[in-house]
Parts: sequence; C-alpha cells; structure tokens
Amino acid sequence: MARSGLFISFEGGEGAGKSTQIRRLAAALEKRGLDVVVTREPGGSPGAEAVRHVLLNGAAEAYGTRMEALLFAAARSDHVEQVIRPALSRGSVVLCDRFMDSSRVYQGVTGNLEPDFIEALQRVAINGVVPDRTIILDIPADMGLERARSRGRAESTDPDRFEREQLETHEKRRHGFLDIAVREPDRCKVVDATRSEDEIAGEIRKLVEVLLKPEAGRLRQKADQAR
Ligand code: TYD
Repeated sequence: MARSGLFISFEGGEGAGKSTQIRRLAAALEKRGLDVVVTREPGGSPGAEAVRHVLLNGAAEAYGTRMEALLFAAARSDHVEQVIRPALSRGSVVLCDRFMDSSRVYQGVTGNLEPDFIEALQRVAINGVVPDRTIILDIPADMGLERARSRGRAESTDPDRFEREQLETHEKRRHGFLDIAVREPDRCKVVDATRSEDEIAGEIRKLVEVLLKPEAGRLRQKADQAR
C-alpha cells in the first residue's frame, strides 16, 4: 500500500516530557494546516487498549517478560493495522507516544530477553511500518523519576507496573535508548530533555521540519477532514 504520510515516534524514560512535547508539536503542525493523528502505545486502537490494561496493571507480570513482550507486540500489531497504517496511507502525520524501541529497551535490555527474539517480534508487529523519525527525549533517570513522581502526586495516580522499578533499571533504559540512536542515527535523534519546555519544543520542530519539506506536496491538509 502506498504510504504518503509521515510517521514520528517519541521515546524516552519516565518524566522526560513526551506527552507535553507531542501536544506542542501536534499544535504546531496543525497550525500549518496538516492533518495530525496523535496516538500512544501500548494502546491506540480498541484491541490494543484492552491489552494495555492487562500490561499496565501488572496482571501479566506473573507470567514473565516473554509473555509481556508478546502482548506488547500483539497490541502493536493491532495498532499498526487499525490506526497507523491507514493514517499514513491517507497522508496524515502520525505522532506516536512510544513504539518498537520501547520494547527493545524495556523488554529487551532490562527484561533480559534475547535481541533475536525481540527483533523477530518487532518485525511481525510493525509489518514494515518503521517510523520516519524517532525523537528520543533524554533525561538522567533520577531527574526523570522525580518529575514523574511530582506529576503523579499532582494527578494522584499510582505508579504503573513499569514505573515502580529501581533507579538503576531506569538508568539502564536510558542507555538502551541512546545505544539505539547510535545504531540508527538517521532515524533516531536524541534531544536533551533537561532544558526548558520551549527549547525542547523548538529543537523537535526543527528535527521534524526537515522531513516536511520534501514531503509537503504529499501530506494531507487538515481542511480535507471536513469533506
Ligand atoms: P504510560 O502510562 O503510557 O507511560 P509513559 O508516559 O511512560 O509512556 O505507560 C507505558 C509503560 O509501558 C511505560 O512504563 C513503558 C512500558 N512499555 C514497555 O515496557 N514496552 C513497550 O513496548 C511499550 C510501548 C511500553
């Protein structure tokens, strides 16, 4: 199927500010008249949201990391086929909060699953839908956790299954994301998330603008939605 849209994923540890930055980028792109689809993982489609619930409340934890990795992949496959691929075919810009690199890091690096197993799962789950750009929001684990905790207090939500883990685990994940960026420098761009919200938003806009120029003619305009 022809793909005319633009697929951007956001990755990083807890408290890196992904959701805020996704909101800001979506607003900036919509202002330019582009049709933007904001989505997240695990979840993003009805089937995947059902699996999200099982994963994040810890119900699958007892069955081991391999089971969890398979469930993340099942959710991803549904999300790709039901939401992401159709949006890209329409020419929309898709902004996705976490994608395949989260599985590589959370289940692969800190879940200790073999890289071959994880890579095979990702191939099946994404079925050719690779992000055009992945923004990795990088923040030291202690700083990120502190931010996530103060946010949690404000919203009075309990930490999820993955947020409960130790500082050392979070630091390993940070390095896991940085390693992916070293291996795939064209797709992945690391953004220093310790700076101000405005500075981060500005850098992300630049990293996305360079992709918009050559694509401009193919991208769907927001006004199309009304027809
Ligand atoms: P979420 O509430 O969406 O938090 P965050 O703001 O950190 O994205 O929770 C998603 C959690 O699921 C997060 O702790 C990372 C974890 N996760 C994985 O372990 N593997 C994956 O493939 C994905 C997509 C997420």
